[in-house]
Parts: sequence; C-alpha cells; structure tokens
Amino acid sequence: MKTRHLISTTALTFALAGVASANDLRDYARDIFEPLPSTIPALADNPVTPEKIDLGKALFFDPRMSASGVFSCNSCHNLATGGDDNMPTSIGHGWQKGPRNSPTVLNAVFNEAQFWDGRAADLAEQAKGPVQAGVEMANTPENVVATLNSMPQYVEWFKASFPAEGDPVSFDNFAKAIEAYEATLITPAPFDAWLNGDDNALNAEQVAGMELFIDKGCASCHNGVNLGGNGYYPFGLIEKPGADILPEGDKGRFAVTETADDEYVFRASPLRNIDQTAPYFHSGLVWDLKVAVQIMGESQLGEDLNDAEADQIVAFLGSLTGTLPQVVYPILPVETAMTPRPTG
Ligand code: HEM
Ligand code: HEM
Repeated sequence: MKTRHLISTTALTFALAGVASANDLRDYARDIFEPLPSTIPALADNPVTPEKIDLGKALFFDPRMSASGVFSCNSCHNLATGGDDNMPTSIGHGWQKGPRNSPTVLNAVFNEAQFWDGRAADLAEQAKGPVQAGVEMANTPENVVATLNSMPQYVEWFKASFPAEGDPVSFDNFAKAIEAYEATLITPAPFDAWLNGDDNALNAEQVAGMELFIDKGCASCHNGVNLGGNGYYPFGLIEKPGADILPEGDKGRFAVTETADDEYVFRASPLRNIDQTAPYFHSGLVWDLKVAVQIMGESQLGEDLNDAEADQIVAFLGSLTGTLPQVVYPILPVETAMTPRPTG
C-alpha cells in the first residue's frame, strides 16, 4: 500500500488568504485535521472491556514478558516520558542497540499502520513483534504463554478478559489485551480544544504557527487526527538529507515492498506530543525540535524556514501536547516455581 496525500501549497495559500474570521479558520483547519475522539476507539475484532484493559496494562508493564526479565514495553515506551525512551535508538536484550528510534505509543491507535515503515497493520499485529525481536525482548510466543500460565492470577485475568474462549491464555490474546490497553492511551491537547471551538486554547503565536504549518505545506503530509501516521513519503522528497540525519543503511519501506520507488520512503510521523519525544527522525539523530522542523522544510518542501517561522511552527507543535489519562502503576502477579527463569 502506498498513499500520497499531496495538497498543493499554492492552493492552501490561496485558501488561507481568503480566511476572514476565527471560525472560518477553524472550519478550514477541521477539513485538514481532526480532533481526538472523547471515547476509546472501537478496535477491529477486539472488543474493549475494562478487564481486557487492566490485563493489557499489566502485560505492558511486565518485564517478565522478555527473555531476560529486564525489558517491558514500558522500558522503550515509557509512559512517564511521552511514551518513548528518549534515546537515539533503543537499547534492548543484552544491551544491544536497535536500528531505529522508538516512536511514542501515545495515540498510536489512530495511526493507519505501525512502525516507521508501516509494516504492521494494527497494534495487535505490532505487539507480537517486539516480544520476539532479538534486539528488543528476545522471547518466544511459547515462553510467553508458559510464563503466563505459570501464574494463576494471570490465568484468571485472561479468563475474565476472553470469557467465551476455552483456552484464553494465548499469544494472540496477549497481543489483543495490549492493544486494548494502548487504545486508552489518548492525550487530548489544547489543539483539540481549539478545533472543538475554544478560541482561547491557542495563543496568537500558536495560531500563526498553525497557519504556517498549513500554508508552507507541512499539512499535506502531516494531517488527520494524529497529524501524520497515515501516509508514506520519501524522506528527502526535494533534497535528501546527509547520512548524519538519514543513515544510508536504512531504506525504510523498501524493505517491506521491495519496490525501488520505496527507497528511503517512511511514514509521515504522527506529531502529537512531539515536544516530549526528542530525539527526532527514525535515526534519532536530531535533538532539537526547531532544527527538525527546519530540516523538514528543506528536505520535504525545499523551503528555508527562518528563525521566526520555525519558532512559530514549534509553538504550534507545542499545542499538540496533551494530557495522559492517570496511569496507576500495576501490581503484577507473583512468580511460581513453574515460571520460566530469566535467560540471557
Ligand atoms: C515501535 C509497542 C516493546 C522499541 C512500536 C510501536 C508500538 C510499540 C505501538 C509503533 C508505534 C508507531 O509506529 O508509531 C510496543 C509494545 C511492546 C514494545 C506493546 C511490548 C510488547 C518495545 C521494546 C523496545 C521497543 C522493549 C526496545 C527495546 C521500539 C522501536 C520501535 C517500536 C525501536 C520502532 C521500530 C521500527 O519502526 O522499525 N512499539 N513496543 N518496543 N518499538 Fe515498541
Ligand atoms: C517526520 C515536522 C513537512 C514527511 C517529521 C518530524 C517532524 C516533522 C517534527 C519528526 C517526527 C519524529 O521524529 O517523531 C514537519 C514540519 C513540516 C513537515 C514542521 C513542514 C515544514 C513534511 C512533508 C512531508 C513530511 C511536506 C511529506 C512530503 C515526513 C516523514 C517523516 C517526517 C516521511 C519521517 C522521517 C523519518 O523517517 O525519520 N516531520 N514535517 N513532512 N515528516 Fe515531516
């Protein structure tokens, strides 16, 4: 699948010039962006129940889901630090450095595909990846299921979460429960309040930044509910960044589709909570959001954004930082003599 939503910058500029009032501007913005829903979204083939959310939360925080007993999902997607790990690229099993920066799990449920290259269709498919990845949790589905079955409390929680199933403790249900928990990690932000009609939710600099974001053409790739996460584009559409930002070894979607056109094509990143998730890009090689914005201007649009313009866009991006639902650290089931011991 390849999606390109390129809206002409000129058309946007023209439309903006005609925007008269705050309400017109809001209507115009609502055609491009979408506020977060106020309820947990429905998941395909995975009804979300309170029991499943609680189970998924325990699994998300449980380091015993990794072979070493050291890494949980929360190690690399720390909910206390924006849902990522603030490292250029993640550290996983055996202190190995992975190849890419960890994206936030916050609002990930709204991305049309998961990972920098979109190779997983949804969060349930995605959750099976890191558990088995050698550089992340280095575990096997069999060992995860044996670990879960060794703790009666987990068996009870799976039964309560999947009441119609004869054998509820499975790797598929592990992934579904995590998906249900992740669907609750939604962060309404001042920008949502503004889109929903609250003029005071953004200050003048943020509104100006939003206009620039649309007018310069950022919104042609970063649009919809997550301002990204819904289309693929070459990183370096106009001008390919140097290897200090875009290392040559990672060809992005090419590895998924094996189509020459997809070399260095990546998913346009979702931008909610972006000021919490430095460093930036799949390489994690840029620490400063303003610099990242200016790189995007050059590489994707052929635009040299001056200091004032970049500051305004950064101010707008700040309005995408929202509030996480309260996270109470879960108390996890205790191991038994049957629990597989940590390895590696
Ligand atoms: C990507 C969840 C464990 C590092 C992702 C994404 C999600 C996620 C939803 C995609 C986000 C997006 O595309 O916007 C989980 C869950 C885990 C887990 C549920 C536990 C079962 C880990 C661990 C590490 C890690 C332990 C680090 C050792 C990463 C990295 C990516 C990623 C580097 C990007 C990979 C790529 O695009 O190729 N994870 N994660 N994750 N996660 Fe995790
Ligand atoms: C990534 C902002 C224009 C496609 C990013 C990131 C930011 C950003 C901050 C880093 C996200 C992260 O590390 O989590 C902007 C701004 C733009 C703009 C402010 C306008 C000046 C565009 C355009 C396109 C695009 C026009 C498509 C033609 C992408 C892609 C990535 C990305 C593919 C991922 C790059 C990677 O693989 O690391 N954008 N963007 N962006 N943006 Fe933009």
